[in-house]
Amino acid sequence: MSGDMIGGFLKIRNLRKSFGGNQVINDFSLDVTERRLQCLVGPNGAGKTTTIDLISGRQKPDSGHIWLRGDDITGLGEHEIARRGVGRKFQIPAVLKGLSVRENLEVAFSRETSALRNMFRLRAPGCDEKLAEVARTVRLTGRLDTEAGLLSHGETQWLEIGMVLMQDPEILLLDEPVAGMTENEIELTVEILNRLKKTHTIILVEHDMNFVRKIADIVTVLHMGALLAQGSLEDIEKDERVRAVYLGTEDAH
Ligand SMILES: Nc1ncnc2c1ncn2[C@@H]1O[C@H](COP(=O)(O)OP(=O)(O)O)[C@@H](O)[C@H]1O
Ligand SMILES: [Mg+2]
Repeated sequence: MSGDMIGGFLKIRNLRKSFGGNQVINDFSLDVTERRLQCLVGPNGAGKTTTIDLISGRQKPDSGHIWLRGDDITGLGEHEIARRGVGRKFQIPAVLKGLSVRENLEVAFSRETSALRNMFRLRAPGCDEKLAEVARTVRLTGRLDTEAGLLSHGETQWLEIGMVLMQDPEILLLDEPVAGMTENEIELTVEILNRLKKTHTIILVEHDMNFVRKIADIVTVLHMGALLAQGSLEDIEKDERVRAVYLGTEDAH
């Protein structure tokens, strides 16, 4: 398996990306295993968000390759990559505040179905079942008729995850999903993610090690756009190179 360049689930090889002469991703390679939660950590500016942008197709790499189940998805558009099962939640909420939680989930479900169906507001087949399941997963069953604009910050983040789940992704890309959440909301998010990772592959960017400890199967440390270390959180915390660039820094992000 190790010598096989295109096997595996999600395989990233030798990615490079620069912005205006600034080499942000510098020969980054990564193997992502199915149904694991992989945390991407590293100091502020390490290239974590850019990595997520490259996987989701929001940015195109200057060189290198990304394979999903053996298919080369490098350079494909954002929509095509999403269609192939890579769901990405953005840091800034994209919920429609004037619509109810239920309506937001319905819109997310029907996004990929026919325009005609949307025009006549016909419920897509399977929507109700999917919606009930997703609402349970993101703990919003009791809030389905609530206007999304009235949700707490944490609930809004969960609705966002729910909207991605309505599209049935295999891989979920989450960039700092608990930023700004209360302690209680973070604890509930830990429960949501630990349940979700049994059925989904999750790549999650995070800098709070206490949160990482409660969810991560594998931790990948990114430093200056390259992989610095990878392993269990325990291994990572013992790694002197990691301590030097990340854990030892007071203002690490
Ligand atoms: N679209 C962009 N244009 C120019 N520079 C960018 C862009 N996106 C990111 N960068 C730069 O790339 C570096 C890495 O950014 P980012 O991936 O956001 O890091 P992280 O998420 O690890 O904090 C930073 O120096 C940032 O300023
Ligand atoms: Mg970032």
